[in-house]
Amino acid sequence: MAPVPIQSSAPGKAILFGEHAVVYERPAIAVPVMQVRATATVEPAPPGSGLTLVASDLGKSIALATAPRDEPLAAAARSTLAHLSAPEPDATLAISSTIPIASGLGSGAAVSTALVRGLASFLGHTLEPAEVSALVFEVEKIHHGTPSGIDNTVIAYEQPVYFVLGRPVERLTVGAPFTLLIGDTGKLSPTKKVVRSVRRVWRRELARYDALFDQVGDITDQARRAIETGDIDALGPLMDENHALLIELGVSSSQLNELVETARFAGALGAKLSGAGRGGNMIALVEDDLTEDVTEALREAGAKRVICTRVATTD
Ligand code: MEV
Repeated sequence: MAPVPIQSSAPGKAILFGEHAVVYERPAIAVPVMQVRATATVEPAPPGSGLTLVASDLGKSIALATAPRDEPLAAAARSTLAHLSAPEPDATLAISSTIPIASGLGSGAAVSTALVRGLASFLGHTLEPAEVSALVFEVEKIHHGTPSGIDNTVIAYEQPVYFVLGRPVERLTVGAPFTLLIGDTGKLSPTKKVVRSVRRVWRRELARYDALFDQVGDITDQARRAIETGDIDALGPLMDENHALLIELGVSSSQLNELVETARFAGALGAKLSGAGRGGNMIALVEDDLTEDVTEALREAGAKRVICTRVATTD
């Protein structure tokens, strides 16, 4: 009987509060987005063939033995093998993903997470979320340059997190469920580029940018209290304030602003860009009876895709 392939997967993510400021040690809040996923499927290959990484969506087939050091998929596989002190197996690991790339939904971190888990599981190991997160963080540095680590954390833990760079992970308590719509501008915006450009301006305008990051940090802390106590009505205005600060940081775009305004006009309690910005996705907080109206309005305003996700109450 042919061996059954091993499958593992990882969700996308959305940052609710604190993107960019989180790179500068202010807090941020993120949730997993289960409606989109990256999947790794691992099958044995004939003896002597080594490990081949196949990402058909990206037109990539990579032999681990000859892959460059900075190839992200190969880096994820190598770190996993080193972590497990395991030799390169004879196997084919295929990656697929429904998470749009370069759009703020954590596609890179999710692909690495699925790969790390799939490879470990093929070798007979189950890794803890903290181990997966640490391995993926190393790959994130290739993708993003100076990542905060929030993407690998929320994706590896698959739970809402309150995250501060360099501090132990805090799982966020959710006091009442709430619904988010995630609207895609369709414009690709690589995180690395935006983070680098923010850093350039931060160096030039240190006092102004630090003050903006502080304000974002305050909003994030207020949002944390609102989420924990189930005060969902308080969240919308905080999202609006965070978006205004992201505009001041120079990471919004006319398309993002238009989708944010459209969502508010159609009845959302609040809206903001999510992720690195300058393209990618925005999020809107909506009451359940308005999800269809706001989704429709976002589509009419040019959103290429709208995902509806519910953040559930934690135990
Ligand atoms: C990317 O999802 C969020 C940013 O804050 C970058 C990071 O935290 O590494 C823009």
